Amino acid sequence: MVSSSRLPSPWTVSYGQTFLVLGSLLICFLLLLFIRQLVKQRRPRGFPPGPTSLPIIGNIWSLASEPHVYMKNQSEIHGPIFSLDLGGISTVVLNGYDAIKECLVHQGDVFADRPSLPLFQKMTKMGGLLNSRYGRGWIEHRKLAVNSFRYFGTGQKTFENKISEECMFFVDAIDEHKGKPFNPKHLVTNAVSNITNLIVFGERFTYDDTDFQHMIEIFSENVELAASGWAFLYNAFPWIEILPFGKHQRLFRNAVEVYDFLLKLIQRFSQGRMPQSPRHYIDAYHDEMEQSTGDLGSSYSLENMIFSVGELIIAGTETTTNAIRWAMLYMALYPSVQDKVQREIDVVVGSCRPPGLEDRLRMPYVEAVLHEVLRFCNVVPLGIFRATSENALVRGYTIPRGTTVITNLYSVHFDEKHWSNPDIFSPERFLDSQGNFVRREAFLPFSLGRRHCLGEQLARMELFLFFTTMLQRFCLQFPAGFVPSLTPKLGMTLQPLPYNICAVRRQQ
Ligand code: HEM
Repeated sequence: MVSSSRLPSPWTVSYGQTFLVLGSLLICFLLLLFIRQLVKQRRPRGFPPGPTSLPIIGNIWSLASEPHVYMKNQSEIHGPIFSLDLGGISTVVLNGYDAIKECLVHQGDVFADRPSLPLFQKMTKMGGLLNSRYGRGWIEHRKLAVNSFRYFGTGQKTFENKISEECMFFVDAIDEHKGKPFNPKHLVTNAVSNITNLIVFGERFTYDDTDFQHMIEIFSENVELAASGWAFLYNAFPWIEILPFGKHQRLFRNAVEVYDFLLKLIQRFSQGRMPQSPRHYIDAYHDEMEQSTGDLGSSYSLENMIFSVGELIIAGTETTTNAIRWAMLYMALYPSVQDKVQREIDVVVGSCRPPGLEDRLRMPYVEAVLHEVLRFCNVVPLGIFRATSENALVRGYTIPRGTTVITNLYSVHFDEKHWSNPDIFSPERFLDSQGNFVRREAFLPFSLGRRHCLGEQLARMELFLFFTTMLQRFCLQFPAGFVPSLTPKLGMTLQPLPYNICAVRRQQ
């Protein structure tokens, strides 16, 4: 007889069977995830057409290099409004002036939201200003920023003098290189960020403030990383946060450091504040926060103050700095254009006083050059991602509420319908036969509609004053034998690859 204790119980299973069951469960789970992903990747009914996408990652792979160029090319196949699948995130891409205007202007409210993507949620919880959802929070922050710009900045005549003063610090710092080659990136960044600093903190930072410079550096790195493949992957599969490697981890680390630094700055500049007598944006924000105490719907909070301060600084610095760096590069590349700019400066301003904004109207060639730099170099090629705030109907397509919308501003500036030979750098396209400056409607570096750039006026002032003050004093040229690359470094903004330049004092 066999003892019953040796008999396998009907409930006992071998290790092999356990693995088999667990393995099958895992496969079922993965299969379910896969099916869920495929369902997410299906184009909604009535959605614009677009290129074929791969399972799981969709079209993310095609955005690896020059996404703005890829999108323009796709629009020639699928039409100005087409769709992409960014790993389960249905996205509409608007191309060309007509489509962008039709959506951003004619349906302004519908296309005024920002997408609630995991990366933006993680960075600013969809609060602050630039990344804020379209609603009360955005209205409050935009109004406060616009009023602060008027009150502490562009609306004041004295503010022009402050920019001119910064221009002097800037050209003096350039002069220290005595015509020898140097990389202008850091100097331009410091000078430009100081203009926003005047509005936000009421003060400029000296060019040797390494803490502030480090903050700007890692913030700019985040602007670059936010358009990397890792950022798109994180938006599609936020669980990759658990991976200890990947560029998204660097982005998160940088953000923590930046917000920590900004909080300290805010605390420093809040000292000595007198309620209702604001000296700068920070004070004005405190006033709003105090006034809305008890209002549960108010969006003013210390956290949103940090986010909005950071957004104003980086939106103002990264863009204008890159525009000036491109302008310097093109002046050295095209000495004949630089020559004409300098002749206009000499005639209108002369050499005994610095250029002022009142000179702008009498300097059409300078205006044309700056416009052509912004058109040709596409500092913000894909704008800032928008989203639909409600279901939209455009050109017969149905775009559901909450869809991510990309505005391909590059495609507007290279739209053959509006520009002849768009891939040639030619300031003359902004001049009439008498040499007067002419506005062109398909010129949208600052975008359009409700969320159009809040700093456009400030940026135009800065570009004019920095550019003319620099070329009044120096001739820009590349070191002998140096051939610059015109290929941009990719990110949310397009910037030139690092280059060295010689700023040689002019003989006037
Ligand atoms: C050459 C310089 C600049 C360029 C090309 C530029 C371009 C842009 C673009 C394309 C947008 C996206 C608008 C949209 O969503 O469609 C934007 C938004 C924005 N810009 Fe600028 N910008 C420049 C300078 C500045 C400056 C100097 C500031 C402020 C100091 C600034 C502050 C902002 C803010 C706060 C937003 C977000 C607006 C919102 O969401 O309501 N920008 N900019």
